Amino acid sequence: MPSSAFPRVIAIDGPAASGKSTVARLVAARLGGYYISTGEMYRALAWELLRRGVDPAADPAGVAALLPQLKLHCELRDGRPELVLNGERVPAEAVRAPEIAAAASVAAAQPAVRAWLLERQRDTARLGLVVLEGRDIGTVVFPDTPHKFFITARPETRAQRRLAQAGETAPGATVASVAAEIVERDRRDATRAIAPLRPAADAVIIETDTLTAEEVAAQICAQV
Ligand code: DC
Repeated sequence: MPSSAFPRVIAIDGPAASGKSTVARLVAARLGGYYISTGEMYRALAWELLRRGVDPAADPAGVAALLPQLKLHCELRDGRPELVLNGERVPAEAVRAPEIAAAASVAAAQPAVRAWLLERQRDTARLGLVVLEGRDIGTVVFPDTPHKFFITARPETRAQRRLAQAGETAPGATVASVAAEIVERDRRDATRAIAPLRPAADAVIIETDTLTAEEVAAQICAQV
Protein backbone atom coordinates (compact mmCIF):
# COMPACT_ATOMS: atom_id res chain seq x y z
CA MET A 1 0.00 0.00 0.00
CA PRO A 2 1.53 3.37 -0.93
CA SER A 3 1.94 5.83 1.93
CA SER A 4 0.31 9.20 1.44
CA ALA A 5 -0.12 12.40 3.45
CA PHE A 6 -3.51 11.15 4.60
CA PRO A 7 -3.17 8.13 6.89
CA ARG A 8 -5.03 4.97 5.82
CA VAL A 9 -3.79 2.44 8.32
CA ILE A 10 -2.52 2.94 11.85
CA ALA A 11 -0.88 -0.19 13.29
CA ILE A 12 -0.84 -0.67 17.06
CA ASP A 13 0.88 -3.82 18.29
CA GLY A 14 1.88 -5.06 21.70
CA PRO A 15 1.67 -7.88 24.22
CA ALA A 16 -1.46 -9.14 26.00
CA ALA A 17 -3.29 -6.61 28.18
CA SER A 18 -0.96 -3.76 27.29
CA GLY A 19 -3.91 -1.41 26.81
CA LYS A 20 -3.78 -1.55 23.00
CA SER A 21 -7.53 -1.79 22.55
CA THR A 22 -8.36 1.18 24.79
CA VAL A 23 -5.69 3.26 23.09
CA ALA A 24 -6.66 2.14 19.58
CA ARG A 25 -10.32 2.99 20.27
CA LEU A 26 -9.34 6.49 21.45
CA VAL A 27 -7.10 7.05 18.42
CA ALA A 28 -9.84 5.91 16.03
CA ALA A 29 -12.38 8.20 17.71
CA ARG A 30 -10.07 11.22 17.58
CA LEU A 31 -9.03 10.72 13.97
CA GLY A 32 -12.45 9.66 12.72
CA GLY A 33 -11.32 6.14 11.77
CA TYR A 34 -12.53 2.61 12.40
CA TYR A 35 -11.19 0.60 15.31
CA ILE A 36 -10.40 -3.02 14.41
CA SER A 37 -9.26 -5.62 16.94
CA THR A 38 -7.45 -8.42 15.12
CA GLY A 39 -7.24 -10.32 18.43
CA GLU A 40 -11.02 -10.43 18.36
CA MET A 41 -10.81 -12.24 15.01
CA TYR A 42 -8.56 -14.90 16.56
CA ARG A 43 -10.92 -15.04 19.54
CA ALA A 44 -13.97 -15.40 17.24
CA LEU A 45 -12.33 -18.39 15.60
CA ALA A 46 -11.40 -19.88 19.01
CA TRP A 47 -15.00 -19.37 20.16
CA GLU A 48 -16.27 -21.29 17.15
CA LEU A 49 -13.68 -24.06 17.62
CA LEU A 50 -14.63 -24.55 21.27
CA ARG A 51 -18.35 -24.52 20.39
CA ARG A 52 -17.72 -27.28 17.86
CA GLY A 53 -15.56 -29.24 20.27
CA VAL A 54 -12.34 -28.80 18.25
CA ASP A 55 -9.34 -28.40 20.58
CA PRO A 56 -6.75 -26.28 18.73
CA ALA A 57 -3.88 -27.69 20.80
CA ALA A 58 -4.75 -31.36 20.20
CA ASP A 59 -6.17 -31.12 16.68
CA PRO A 60 -4.52 -28.55 14.38
CA ALA A 61 -5.60 -30.63 11.34
CA GLY A 62 -9.22 -30.35 12.52
CA VAL A 63 -8.80 -26.59 12.75
CA ALA A 64 -7.40 -26.35 9.21
CA ALA A 65 -10.19 -28.58 7.86
CA LEU A 66 -12.84 -26.36 9.41
CA LEU A 67 -11.58 -23.03 8.00
CA PRO A 68 -13.10 -23.41 4.49
CA GLN A 69 -16.53 -23.80 6.12
CA LEU A 70 -16.27 -20.50 7.98
CA LYS A 71 -17.12 -17.05 6.70
CA LEU A 72 -15.83 -14.23 8.86
CA HIS A 73 -16.09 -10.58 7.97
CA CYS A 74 -16.42 -7.08 9.44
CA GLU A 75 -19.74 -5.37 8.91
CA LEU A 76 -20.60 -1.78 9.80
CA ARG A 77 -23.40 -1.50 12.31
CA ASP A 78 -24.31 1.98 13.60
CA GLY A 79 -21.09 3.16 12.00
CA ARG A 80 -18.93 0.62 13.88
CA PRO A 81 -17.27 -2.50 12.50
CA GLU A 82 -18.72 -5.66 13.98
CA LEU A 83 -17.52 -9.23 13.42
CA VAL A 84 -19.93 -11.62 11.75
CA LEU A 85 -19.19 -15.36 11.61
CA ASN A 86 -21.33 -17.49 9.29
CA GLY A 87 -24.07 -14.86 9.45
CA GLU A 88 -24.04 -14.67 13.26
CA ARG A 89 -22.80 -11.63 15.18
CA VAL A 90 -19.74 -12.58 17.27
CA PRO A 91 -20.55 -11.68 20.90
CA ALA A 92 -17.74 -9.23 21.73
CA GLU A 93 -18.22 -9.71 25.49
CA ALA A 94 -18.26 -13.54 25.49
CA VAL A 95 -15.04 -13.83 23.47
CA ARG A 96 -13.14 -11.90 26.17
CA ALA A 97 -13.22 -14.96 28.51
CA PRO A 98 -9.75 -16.21 29.57
CA GLU A 99 -10.24 -19.73 28.12
CA ILE A 100 -11.01 -18.20 24.72
CA ALA A 101 -7.91 -15.98 24.94
CA ALA A 102 -5.76 -19.05 25.64
CA ALA A 103 -7.33 -21.07 22.77
CA ALA A 104 -6.92 -18.05 20.44
CA SER A 105 -3.23 -17.85 21.28
CA VAL A 106 -2.78 -21.58 20.53
CA ALA A 107 -4.71 -21.39 17.21
CA ALA A 108 -2.78 -18.21 16.28
CA ALA A 109 0.46 -20.21 16.10
CA GLN A 110 -0.96 -22.33 13.24
CA PRO A 111 0.02 -21.22 9.71
CA ALA A 112 -3.38 -22.11 8.16
CA VAL A 113 -5.15 -19.92 10.70
CA ARG A 114 -2.84 -16.96 10.13
CA ALA A 115 -3.13 -17.19 6.34
CA TRP A 116 -6.92 -17.37 6.62
CA LEU A 117 -7.14 -14.32 8.88
CA LEU A 118 -4.52 -12.26 7.04
CA GLU A 119 -6.84 -11.73 4.06
CA ARG A 120 -9.71 -10.74 6.34
CA GLN A 121 -7.53 -8.28 8.23
CA ARG A 122 -6.21 -6.62 5.06
CA ASP A 123 -9.74 -6.43 3.70
CA THR A 124 -10.72 -4.01 6.52
CA ALA A 125 -8.77 -1.21 4.80
CA ARG A 126 -11.63 -0.91 2.32
CA LEU A 127 -13.63 0.79 5.11
CA GLY A 128 -11.41 3.92 5.07
CA LEU A 129 -9.02 5.00 7.81
CA VAL A 130 -8.53 1.96 10.04
CA VAL A 131 -6.76 1.65 13.39
CA LEU A 132 -5.79 -2.00 13.74
CA GLU A 133 -4.46 -3.50 16.93
CA GLY A 134 -2.79 -6.87 17.30
CA ARG A 135 0.61 -8.55 17.42
CA ASP A 136 1.83 -8.46 13.80
CA ILE A 137 0.05 -5.52 12.17
CA GLY A 138 3.27 -3.53 11.63
CA THR A 139 5.40 -6.56 10.72
CA VAL A 140 3.06 -8.67 8.53
CA VAL A 141 -0.46 -7.35 7.97
CA PHE A 142 0.36 -3.77 6.92
CA PRO A 143 4.17 -3.55 6.84
CA ASP A 144 4.04 -0.58 4.45
CA THR A 145 2.08 1.77 6.65
CA PRO A 146 4.32 4.51 8.03
CA HIS A 147 2.21 4.70 11.20
CA LYS A 148 3.41 1.87 13.45
CA PHE A 149 3.31 1.79 17.22
CA PHE A 150 4.26 -0.86 19.78
CA ILE A 151 2.71 -0.47 23.21
CA THR A 152 4.08 -2.26 26.20
CA ALA A 153 4.10 -2.32 30.03
CA ARG A 154 5.40 -4.52 32.85
CA PRO A 155 3.42 -7.77 33.40
CA GLU A 156 2.20 -6.60 36.84
CA THR A 157 0.85 -3.34 35.38
CA ARG A 158 -0.91 -5.32 32.65
CA ALA A 159 -2.33 -7.80 35.18
CA GLN A 160 -3.78 -4.91 37.20
CA ARG A 161 -5.37 -3.44 34.09
CA ARG A 162 -6.83 -6.80 33.12
CA LEU A 163 -8.25 -7.39 36.61
CA ALA A 164 -10.00 -4.02 36.36
CA GLN A 165 -11.92 -5.26 33.28
CA ALA A 166 -14.95 -7.36 34.20
CA GLY A 167 -15.23 -10.83 32.65
CA GLU A 168 -11.61 -11.07 31.50
CA THR A 169 -10.21 -13.05 34.42
CA ALA A 170 -11.25 -16.21 36.25
CA PRO A 171 -13.00 -15.89 39.63
CA GLY A 172 -10.44 -15.58 42.45
CA ALA A 173 -7.69 -14.37 40.09
CA THR A 174 -4.90 -12.28 41.65
CA VAL A 175 -2.28 -9.91 40.21
CA ALA A 176 0.27 -12.74 40.47
CA SER A 177 -1.94 -15.37 38.78
CA VAL A 178 -3.03 -13.02 35.97
CA ALA A 179 0.57 -11.82 35.45
CA ALA A 180 1.67 -15.48 35.13
CA GLU A 181 -1.05 -16.15 32.52
CA ILE A 182 -0.05 -13.03 30.60
CA VAL A 183 3.64 -13.98 30.63
CA GLU A 184 2.75 -17.46 29.31
CA ARG A 185 0.59 -16.03 26.52
CA ASP A 186 3.34 -13.53 25.58
CA ARG A 187 5.87 -16.37 25.51
CA ARG A 188 3.68 -18.38 23.12
CA ASP A 189 2.89 -15.33 20.97
CA ALA A 190 6.52 -14.17 20.82
CA THR A 191 8.20 -17.54 20.20
CA ARG A 192 5.97 -18.99 17.47
CA ALA A 193 7.66 -19.54 14.13
CA ILE A 194 5.21 -17.49 12.11
CA ALA A 195 4.45 -13.77 12.62
CA PRO A 196 5.69 -13.68 16.22
CA LEU A 197 4.87 -10.80 18.53
CA ARG A 198 7.62 -8.20 18.03
CA PRO A 199 7.92 -4.52 17.13
CA ALA A 200 8.56 -3.64 13.47
CA ALA A 201 12.01 -2.11 12.97
CA ASP A 202 10.41 1.29 12.32
CA ALA A 203 7.75 1.14 15.05
CA VAL A 204 7.57 3.81 17.74
CA ILE A 205 7.78 1.97 21.07
CA ILE A 206 5.70 3.41 23.91
CA GLU A 207 6.22 2.19 27.50
CA THR A 208 2.92 2.81 29.22
CA ASP A 209 3.53 1.92 32.90
CA THR A 210 3.23 5.54 34.00
CA LEU A 211 0.92 6.83 31.26
CA THR A 212 -2.86 6.89 30.97
CA ALA A 213 -4.57 5.57 27.84
CA GLU A 214 -5.46 9.19 26.94
CA GLU A 215 -1.80 10.20 27.16
CA VAL A 216 -0.71 7.30 24.94
CA ALA A 217 -3.46 8.07 22.40
CA ALA A 218 -2.44 11.73 22.37
CA GLN A 219 1.19 10.76 21.64
CA ILE A 220 0.08 8.54 18.75
CA CYS A 221 -2.27 11.15 17.27
CA ALA A 222 0.48 13.80 17.52
CA GLN A 223 2.93 11.56 15.63
CA VAL A 224 0.41 10.59 12.95
O1 DC B 1 -5.21 -9.09 21.62
P1 DC B 1 -5.96 -10.29 22.14
O2 DC B 1 -5.62 -10.62 23.56
O3 DC B 1 -7.44 -10.18 21.92
O4 DC B 1 -5.47 -11.53 21.21
C1 DC B 1 -5.81 -12.87 21.47
C2 DC B 1 -4.75 -13.81 20.89
O5 DC B 1 -4.79 -13.75 19.46
C3 DC B 1 -3.30 -13.48 21.26
O6 DC B 1 -2.86 -14.15 22.41
C4 DC B 1 -2.51 -13.90 20.06
C5 DC B 1 -3.46 -13.83 18.92
N1 DC B 1 -3.21 -12.69 18.04
C6 DC B 1 -2.22 -12.83 17.10
O7 DC B 1 -1.53 -13.85 17.07
N2 DC B 1 -2.02 -11.85 16.16
C7 DC B 1 -2.75 -10.73 16.19
N3 DC B 1 -2.53 -9.78 15.26
C8 DC B 1 -3.74 -10.55 17.18
C9 DC B 1 -3.95 -11.55 18.11
